[in-house]
Amino acid sequence: MGRGLRRCAVVLAAGAMLVACKGKKGEEAPGNVPEFVLTYAENQAEDYPTTRGAYKFAELVKERTGGRIEILVHAGGALGDEQAVVEQLQYGGIDFVRASLSSLSEFVPELNVLQMPYLYKNSEHMWKVLEGKIGDEFMEVLDGSGLVGLSWYDAGARNFYCTKKPVQRLEDVKGMRIRVQESEMMASMVEALGGTAIPMTYDKVYSALETGQIDGAENNWPSYESVRHYEVAPYYTVDEHTRVPEMQLMSQYTWDKLSAEDQRIIVECARESALYERKLWTQRSESSMRRVKSAGCTIVELTDEEKERFREVMTPVYQKYCADYMDVIERIAAVGEE
Ligand code: GCU
Repeated sequence: MGRGLRRCAVVLAAGAMLVACKGKKGEEAPGNVPEFVLTYAENQAEDYPTTRGAYKFAELVKERTGGRIEILVHAGGALGDEQAVVEQLQYGGIDFVRASLSSLSEFVPELNVLQMPYLYKNSEHMWKVLEGKIGDEFMEVLDGSGLVGLSWYDAGARNFYCTKKPVQRLEDVKGMRIRVQESEMMASMVEALGGTAIPMTYDKVYSALETGQIDGAENNWPSYESVRHYEVAPYYTVDEHTRVPEMQLMSQYTWDKLSAEDQRIIVECARESALYERKLWTQRSESSMRRVKSAGCTIVELTDEEKERFREVMTPVYQKYCADYMDVIERIAAVGEE
C-alpha cells in the first residue's frame, strides 16, 4: 500500500473505533465495554524497552480508569513510519505515539535544541535537564502543534556503524554515504563531518546497508542489535555524537475529548511508564552490547582527542539550528554545575 493509502486506511480504522466505542464523558463503562478505545503507535519490536513501556502505560491506564480507557499498542511500525504517524496524531487518526525527537523536530523545530550533537555530558546530565525546568519548558513548546507531550523516554546515545571499515578518525567519515533519520539537523551533522547524508525511514535501513546503497548508519546499541543492522554493518564506533530523547505524545484532538481527571491519569501513567522504560533501557543496552560483541562485531572507542575533533566541526550546525537558543544551550551546559 502507498503511504497516502496506508494513512487513509489507518485514519478510517482508528476513527471507526472511536465512534464505535465512545460513550459519555466521565461515566463508568457499562459491563466490560470501554468508553474509549485508543491506538498507540510504536515502531520498535514487541520486546524492545519502549514497546514494553507502551504496554505498561496501557495497563496502568486501564487499571486506573476502571477499564473505561483501553489503549491498543501497535508495535513494529504497523501503523506507519514515525513522521506519518505524527501527522496522523495531528488530526486524530492515531491517539498516541512514542517518537524520537529527530522526527518530532521536523514538526516543532525548537525541539532540535534537545538533540544537538555533544550537548549532554552523559546520560545523568541529560536526565537532569529533561526532569528539570528545561524539560518542562520543552514539553510546552508543543502547544499549538496538535500534539500533547506526556513523558520523556530514554534512547541512549547514538553511534556510527559501517559495512566495510570502522570509523576511527574524522577523515574516515569523508565521502561515506550515511543514513540519517528524516531530520534536517541530523543531515547537517553528517555533512559537517564530511559524509553524505541519506535520509531514510528506519524500516528501510537494513536492506540499504545490505545492498550497498549506503555505507553506514547511526543508532543506539539496542536498535543496532534489535533490527539486526550489526549483521550487515559490523563496524560500530562509540563516538556518542548525539543523545536523542524520545517522547510519548498524545493527539490534541483526542486529549480534548477526555475529562480533566482522565487527562491527569494519562499523564501520571505515562510518567510512570517512562521510569519503567528507563530501567529496561539500561538493561537492554548492556545485553545488546554483549550480543553484538559475541556476534563478532568490531567495536571502536573513539579517543578523547578524536572526539574533540568531531565536536569542533559541529559549530556551524549549532549556528544553523540554535542561533536563537544559545541561552538555552548555556543553561543546559550549566545544569548539574550549580
Ligand atoms: C531509534 C528510535 C526510533 C527511530 C530510529 C531511527 O531506534 O527509537 O524511534 O525511528 O532510531 O533511527 O529512525
